[in-house]
Amino acid sequence: MTTQPTPVLEARGVTMRFGGLTAVRSVDFTVNAGEIVGLIGPNGAGKTTFFNCLTGLYVPTEGTVSYKGTVLPPKPHLVTQAGIARTFQNIRLFANMTVLENVLVGRHTRTKEGLWSALLRGPGFKKAERHSEERAMELLEFIGLAHKRDHLARNLPYGEQRKLEIARAMASEPRLLLLDEPTAGMNPQETRATEELVFAIRDKGMAVLLIEHDMRFVFNLSDRVAVLVQGEKLVEGTSDVVQADERVIAAYLGEPFEGAPGEAEAAEVEAAEVEAAEAAADATSTTSSTKGEAK
Ligand SMILES: Nc1ncnc2c1ncn2[C@@H]1O[C@H](COP(=O)(O)OP(=O)(O)OP(=O)(O)O)[C@@H](O)[C@H]1O
Ligand SMILES: [Mg+2]
Repeated sequence: MTTQPTPVLEARGVTMRFGGLTAVRSVDFTVNAGEIVGLIGPNGAGKTTFFNCLTGLYVPTEGTVSYKGTVLPPKPHLVTQAGIARTFQNIRLFANMTVLENVLVGRHTRTKEGLWSALLRGPGFKKAERHSEERAMELLEFIGLAHKRDHLARNLPYGEQRKLEIARAMASEPRLLLLDEPTAGMNPQETRATEELVFAIRDKGMAVLLIEHDMRFVFNLSDRVAVLVQGEKLVEGTSDVVQADERVIAAYLGEPFEGAPGEAEAAEVEAAEVEAAEAAADATSTTSSTKGEAK
């Protein structure tokens, strides 16, 4: 039985121009409920600009962004309120606040009290405080930072700051989470853990759209991958389809350049390799009586 996908986010004909530069050109893009979608592309392809258009940070020059069928007003706080949260390529935490406080700030769109009340601990805040704190601690448990609740954000190692950003974004209780290079600056172990974390986030019922340069990470995770090149969506499909697409390979590696091995050279190398393999096989068979000594 196949069920129809339910679109959470729909971008239609999104174009973003900065003066003479078209950073994003006529992009149509959909994220469905329950999906993890990857957005890849070379540096300067327009990925972050596209995120900024989706989240109301930029007003697209042309096109619309809809959330669950309703066109979103291009205002960040209204986008967050609607149910979309994001992290930033350049981490944006309150460096001198604690880990817990950073998550609490992320909750302010979901509490009646608002940001200033949360920060100044006004009378309305006291009532909501316990519930908010419980919820924030749940998120810190989930993300693996509960033991650092009272540490200042600026004292966390880089990988943990990235995780804290994710927790803060999740605190607004989004249905769609946008992650801009969540593993940038992480070591391989942290990247692996982040992969598990993104799967766990999806399992909580959130759709995830992620920008990444770590190809293994993005292809492992994503149900679908879209490739942006010079502002245009070049290819979109499953990981297998996108990985095998020659246009994607060319976009990343560049067109063959002068002096690069041509077909003739490539064939020569291949032939030499075959010859070497045969020679090695011969050597092994003639020295099979002195097993282990063949080199
Ligand atoms: N506010 C801006 N004003 C003018 N030009 C901008 C602005 N923001 C981005 N650009 C330009 O738009 C293009 C796309 O940049 P963007 O940051 O979206 O790329 P990206 O795909 O996120 O790259 P990276 O992988 O390096 O993060 C670049 O040429 C960039 O210089
Ligand atoms: Mg970027």
